[in-house]
Amino acid sequence: MRTEDHNIQEPAGTTTNVRVVAPGMGAPEALALHPAPVPRAGRGRVVVEVEAAGISYAEVQMLERLHPFPPKFPFVPGYDLVGRVTEVGKGVTGIRPGDRVAAMPRKGSWTRFAEVPAKSLTAVPGGIDPAEAVSLVTNGVTAWQMLHRLARVRSGQSVLVHGASGGVGTLLTALAVRNGIRVIGTASPGKHERVRALGAHPLDYRSPDLPHRVRELAPDGVAAVFDHIGGSGLDQGWAMLAPGGVLVSFDSSVSGHAPGQWFRPHVPAMRRALVWNLKRRLGLTGGRRMSMYYVKPDAAFRSDLDAMYRLVLSGDLRPPIAERYALAEAGAAMRRLMNGGVVGKLVLIP
Ligand SMILES: NC(=O)c1ccc[n+]([C@@H]2O[C@H](COP(=O)([O-])OP(=O)(O)OC[C@H]3O[C@@H](n4cnc5c(N)ncnc54)[C@H](OP(=O)(O)O)[C@@H]3O)[C@@H](O)[C@H]2O)c1
Repeated sequence: MRTEDHNIQEPAGTTTNVRVVAPGMGAPEALALHPAPVPRAGRGRVVVEVEAAGISYAEVQMLERLHPFPPKFPFVPGYDLVGRVTEVGKGVTGIRPGDRVAAMPRKGSWTRFAEVPAKSLTAVPGGIDPAEAVSLVTNGVTAWQMLHRLARVRSGQSVLVHGASGGVGTLLTALAVRNGIRVIGTASPGKHERVRALGAHPLDYRSPDLPHRVRELAPDGVAAVFDHIGGSGLDQGWAMLAPGGVLVSFDSSVSGHAPGQWFRPHVPAMRRALVWNLKRRLGLTGGRRMSMYYVKPDAAFRSDLDAMYRLVLSGDLRPPIAERYALAEAGAAMRRLMNGGVVGKLVLIP
């Protein structure tokens, strides 16, 4: 151990590590907890003792090789985490052992000690519950940036949020409602009461007269449609837009896929974005546009996450946490997500 290269603080309690390993493509039941050495911080990186790690649809996609950036098997899943820095690698400035941070390494978070790049870290205020803090990392920033940076919807306008009961959807709904935006939120009927409690008007996404129902609620069309389904449903979303409105596509894999062919469901979305935005340039869409969104751990990510942490501290945002699981229960937690019926975020607590 070359201690001169590292700024080390021995973590309190145990210094052994365990991590969840995905051995290969397939069912989440194959996930297993393995002992592992506590990682050392490489150059430009830090080691974090994880307080909470998020469970999201991205892990389902990775296990089925449907993710745009699939890691090679075996790998440790886990898109995002919150925890305390225990070791700082060479070349890292402004971060010390003991700092509480959030990170989005995209994989490797389902562990007790994770080694992550230092440049994507965001400070997490001490008063925030770790599960709530981690729910805002990928899902919260996605919701925030689609609403405030891409769609720029104003108070008094109406939007359609697909999957308003999910990890992203609940936060998108909560953020929109607190900004005075009217939200029509699709969900399966069993979750309509929860969607209503968030302040949205629930509709069943399987309903054949969905466009008609949306038109009843927003006769002039909606200012934005947030769509993670893709496929021909995008045409429906486009037709619901008011002049100047935006269709935000943030995934397409729900619309159908073959394992290992992650790109296929995205092709129709990309084709539509190309055609509609070309027509828009020609002035043929009444100002309607389509945007595709993918979350990145850049400077905007850090400032948007920080803005949400301030909203939580002031009591203006309460991220909905569905359930908390131990690391050893990661497979069961993923199965829970895949089976549906969850409202809000599933979180692992190592
Ligand atoms: N582009 C990005 O950067 C980015 C970032 C984060 C997440 N995402 C994507 O966002 C999506 C949601 O992620 P998540 O973690 O929030 O997942 P989640 O918690 O599993 O939520 C998914 C939601 O989708 C709903 N749903 C399922 N089928 C639907 C359909 N046909 N029409 C409308 N809604 C449907 C489900 O509702 P019911 O349970 O009621 O059926 C569920 O509430 C995923 O596709 C994920 O890949 C993208």
